Amino acid sequence: MYVCICKGISEKDIERAMITHQNTKDILKSLGVGSDCGTCMIDAIESIKSKQKAHNTSRQTVQKPTNLK
Ligand code: FES
Repeated sequence: MYVCICKGISEKDIERAMITHQNTKDILKSLGVGSDCGTCMIDAIESIKSKQKAHNTSRQTVQKPTNLK
């Protein structure tokens, strides 16, 4: 699904950018999201925050010890 129509940036493009960039501003800047009409900014930021939250939740789940009593 496209997040930014002006730049043709999809959810997958954002996920790929998140591999090399840590913070939201850097992710958006690296892709050029919001640099034209800007109407995509709120949705793009929400998408990034949601993906970061899901990533952090899955990391916490993996790090939990499984055999402690
Ligand atoms: S839709 Fe992203 S800059 Fe226009």
